[in-house]
Amino acid sequence: MAKRWTPETWRERPVQQMPVYPDQARVDAVTDLLSNYPPLVFAGEARSLKQDLAEVTRGDAFLLQGGDCAESFAEFHPDKIRDTFRVMLQMAVALTFGSATPVVKVGRVAGQFAKPRSAPTETVDGVELPSYRGDIVNGFDFDEASRVPDPERMVRAYNQAASTLNLLRAFSQGGYADLHKVHQWTLGFVSRSAQGKRYEDLANRIDEALEFMAACGITADSIPQISETNFYTSHEALLLPYEQALTRVDSTTGDWYDVSAHFLWIGDRTRQPDGAHVEFLRGVNNPIGLKCGPSLDPDELVRLIDLLNPEDEPGRLTLIARMGADKVGDHLAPLLRRVKQEGRTVVWACDPMHGNTVKSSNGYKTRPFERILSEVRSFFDVHDAEGTQPGGVHFEMTGEEVTECTGGAQAITDDGLSDRYHTACDPRLNASQALELAFLIAEKLKEDRADRNRARRIAAAE
Ligand code: PEP
Ligand code: CO
Repeated sequence: MAKRWTPETWRERPVQQMPVYPDQARVDAVTDLLSNYPPLVFAGEARSLKQDLAEVTRGDAFLLQGGDCAESFAEFHPDKIRDTFRVMLQMAVALTFGSATPVVKVGRVAGQFAKPRSAPTETVDGVELPSYRGDIVNGFDFDEASRVPDPERMVRAYNQAASTLNLLRAFSQGGYADLHKVHQWTLGFVSRSAQGKRYEDLANRIDEALEFMAACGITADSIPQISETNFYTSHEALLLPYEQALTRVDSTTGDWYDVSAHFLWIGDRTRQPDGAHVEFLRGVNNPIGLKCGPSLDPDELVRLIDLLNPEDEPGRLTLIARMGADKVGDHLAPLLRRVKQEGRTVVWACDPMHGNTVKSSNGYKTRPFERILSEVRSFFDVHDAEGTQPGGVHFEMTGEEVTECTGGAQAITDDGLSDRYHTACDPRLNASQALELAFLIAEKLKEDRADRNRARRIAAAE
């Protein structure tokens, strides 16, 4: 029998990565306020995402999760939200068309504000200040006043999340995501690239397919999926006072949900089985994720699965492997094997970003695109060898023409990084790199599908 859980039992556990606020009374005032604010998502939506992820566990859908490393107050702009959304749509189209598999779209957006840091303080030119922990906690500028954790930032983050989500809902349900608009989703700079040409070909084929379907009487009137899409939100559930304030009982089921997003995940730095973050997320009924880095061993993973998905509910738990291109071969296989042996139902997703961060020759934090692709390829190969299901990808990208990850079709060099290096946190894929990645994955999925169909035919013939 599982131990007692309430939205605040996490407070009885050791907690990592928590800001130290100078005035606890102000924190309490803010969280009291937030606990009366409307939910950002409905529990029913979180349940439909769980259903969609259950399809992923059966190999009948593929998870595409992506967005900013960290959203910021300064960069809050409708164009930015739109550009990220359309790159996700483009990637989803490439994946769906290439693989004939439905794609579950989940943004790292509308709440992805809090960041774990490798050290609590940062020293620049002999001055030591608290580390920047994301706009929901403190300010990015390197001065003492900005770095003091300010609880009022939680209210601003909530408001930004609410209006971001409002726009995303309008885009996904209001006609912007209509498949007849596939051509219009192309961003100017992408259309000039090799990926842009490839996307254009794909869009032409989709047009043809839509014309054919219309001739057969299948239109958006009969099939709403042609003109609208489901787009879900997610973020790392790191700042627990904020998450607690947004955790409510769903009136239709009587179950607890964290209504700050549809999907919440536990980061690689906060996944201690006895720790506060695991305690908090085990009690909410949303679909949840767990980042799995190279230091996670199979026994500990099974212990975490016991805590986070004791009923083995399909779609509840997504394991997001973020090993690094050079480690994925050795570290992923034992985890896959063990989870399979134990008969646990999970989605396995690949985050090819966080294990591949390096310093460029001129001092930028970057990620070589080749290593990102290599980790994705190995992820598929290891699943293939273990007979397990590669369920999805999780990555950091933006719709802007940034130069943060080296390589890709535009061959961004170390020297080129300084041109448009805008991230407040980790280096992100730009739109053409993201599309290149989607085409690669589509090909892998197509091969998988061909293999599975062949196996089915052979089985049917026997
Ligand atoms: C992240 O997803 O931004 C992150 C910090 O990841 P991880 O916990 O895997 O390092
Ligand atoms: Co990141």
